[in-house]
Amino acid sequence: MFINFEGVDGCGKTSVINAITIYLKNQGYNLEVTREPGGTSISEQIRQILLNPNNTDMLPLTEAYLYASARAQHVYKKILPALKNNKIVITDRYIHSSLAYQGVVKKLGIDFVYDLNLNAIDGGLVFPDITFILDVPIEVALERIAADPNRKADRFDQESIEFHKQVREAFKEVQRRFDFGTHWQCILIDASRSLEDVVKEILDILLPRLKCDKLTNSILSK
Ligand code: TYD
Repeated sequence: MFINFEGVDGCGKTSVINAITIYLKNQGYNLEVTREPGGTSISEQIRQILLNPNNTDMLPLTEAYLYASARAQHVYKKILPALKNNKIVITDRYIHSSLAYQGVVKKLGIDFVYDLNLNAIDGGLVFPDITFILDVPIEVALERIAADPNRKADRFDQESIEFHKQVREAFKEVQRRFDFGTHWQCILIDASRSLEDVVKEILDILLPRLKCDKLTNSILSK
């Protein structure tokens, strides 16, 4: 199973992913937890360029291609091998971020960015079984960012409140367009609630699917 978490900066993705990871590991599930941009040595180097606060004049097109090339490396070198080894892959951001940030907010167009990723990954574009988009009002996200002592400022922190509001709306649009039911499911989660409530809702959705997967795998291996 392939799962990704998405949302505006400060939506609480990291805390939610940590809590879900601990819970699933304790239940004996075999996980690969990763992130974008990043996840492999080369993709992490591309991340440095993308998030460098000095790179203020980067073109949206340059951004889109860099995210896609970091993703290609990530898909072939980490995500696909882990899925082949029957691991559950959890990634902090994936293609939905490109569709929202570069496609909608930076105005390259959702279809253009989708095709660009498809070409970059050359047929290997795996779509997540479930995508969780953590939705919070920007005021709440900013309070969470301000309260996090470990957070380093990056290029995206220099953006205006208006930019982040547009990102929130963009994710909603992406959710509406990329929810394909039980395959490629994309779910909007109200992440303005407590961490416990958010994690509970996500586990209530995930656990029945994971148990079903486990059963199918054990039947297939007999
Ligand atoms: P992230 O690692 O989530 O940063 P943080 O932990 O500080 O929230 O993501 C870095 C930034 O990159 C984030 O602002 C979103 C942006 N991004 C895109 O614009 N497009 C993409 O395809 C991805 C993966 C991220």
